[in-house]
Amino acid sequence: MLADKRILLIIGGGIAAYKALDLIRRLREQGAAVTPVLTRAGEEFVTPLSVSALAAQKVYRDLFDLTDEAEMGHIELSRAADLVVVAPATADLMAKMAGGLANDLASTLLLATDKRVMIAPSMNVRMWDHPATQRNFAQLQADGVMVVGPGEGPMACGEFGPGRMAEVPDIVAAIGAALGDGPLKGRHVLVTSGPTHEPIDPVRYIANRSSGAQGAALAAALRDLGARVSFITGPASVPAPAGVDVVAVETAQQMADAVAAALPADAAVFAAAVADWRVANAAGQKMKKDGTGKPPALEFAENPDILARVAQMGDGRPRLVVGFAAETEHVADYATAKRARKGCDWIVANDVSPETGIMGGAENAVTLITGQGAESWPRLPKAEVARRLALRIADALG
Ligand code: CTP
Repeated sequence: MLADKRILLIIGGGIAAYKALDLIRRLREQGAAVTPVLTRAGEEFVTPLSVSALAAQKVYRDLFDLTDEAEMGHIELSRAADLVVVAPATADLMAKMAGGLANDLASTLLLATDKRVMIAPSMNVRMWDHPATQRNFAQLQADGVMVVGPGEGPMACGEFGPGRMAEVPDIVAAIGAALGDGPLKGRHVLVTSGPTHEPIDPVRYIANRSSGAQGAALAAALRDLGARVSFITGPASVPAPAGVDVVAVETAQQMADAVAAALPADAAVFAAAVADWRVANAAGQKMKKDGTGKPPALEFAENPDILARVAQMGDGRPRLVVGFAAETEHVADYATAKRARKGCDWIVANDVSPETGIMGGAENAVTLITGQGAESWPRLPKAEVARRLALRIADALG
């Protein structure tokens, strides 16, 4: 996927630097050449020898190393790459980049380069949340720096939260998408995912069991084929993939608004499990028991059908509109009728009866309904369903 691509990898000084070693391996496996640069702080976490051994290249460390300058000057080094990747991108490196400092080799290369730059931030959650880091991060995004991660999770320092460096496969995928000539390069694909939460009062809501796993896998697969992905997600239990534009929403109405704002798109895939109804008389304050023993009466109002709305729009309709159908019986028949009713091009139908374990599970067995009829796929991991579907989408967009 990355054959003949040249990557300048700047390894900053954070505990996640150890992952940079694996990153070098994975990139080389994909055919890329990696020129490593190790910061002084980076050397405290990984040794120059392991970096250069894995890269099968010299590791650059010093701005004023005359030997290096004789081999390849720092200006040349900053430009002899297709992409500059900073992983881990520490708070310090991000601050230097945002401020335009050039007081060591890494920051000088980043200032001198005429190539695109991708960062994989990695730091303690408090450092990530600090207004200074958030300011620098916003500046870097405004400067066109691509970002992968950070993820959320337990940290080496024992705390929990955002700031964890993206996992290596996600960084490789983001690099692939940035450099790749995948079949969806230049295409914009919109994906909805996850459940919606419809408030009853400020502390209670109506939800469903969707984990968002299939939608997230699909967004990642589309990204891997080079698409720009707008990922509009309800409160899912699996994290959003790296390298996609995430819009987090809660209710169906918010999802409908976010979809409208993200259009136009070449294709739109509606994998979200949207609540058909919202509570019309949701309370502004927490509802209290009134002592009579009588349950409160909830009134419902119909939510907008986002899929039908987009499928039936005239001007600006995505060329391919794909819906999902979660059924518990007569899967192909119901899904075929749903395709006609909603006006979409395809329906990806799955049997979500509890005994299948599909909802919230790792696998999916889908029937793809197109204008040509129904096609049953074998039971596959959700990532594989996503990969096949993404390829079909690429095929359909031509
Ligand atoms: N969908 C949507 N907006 C809604 C409801 C559903 O975009 N308000 C989309 C889902 O993302 C999915 C498809 O419509 O792609 C099918 O949803 P489903 O809830 O199964 O369809 P319904 O119209 O509710 O049909 P039924 O009640 O017969 O299952």
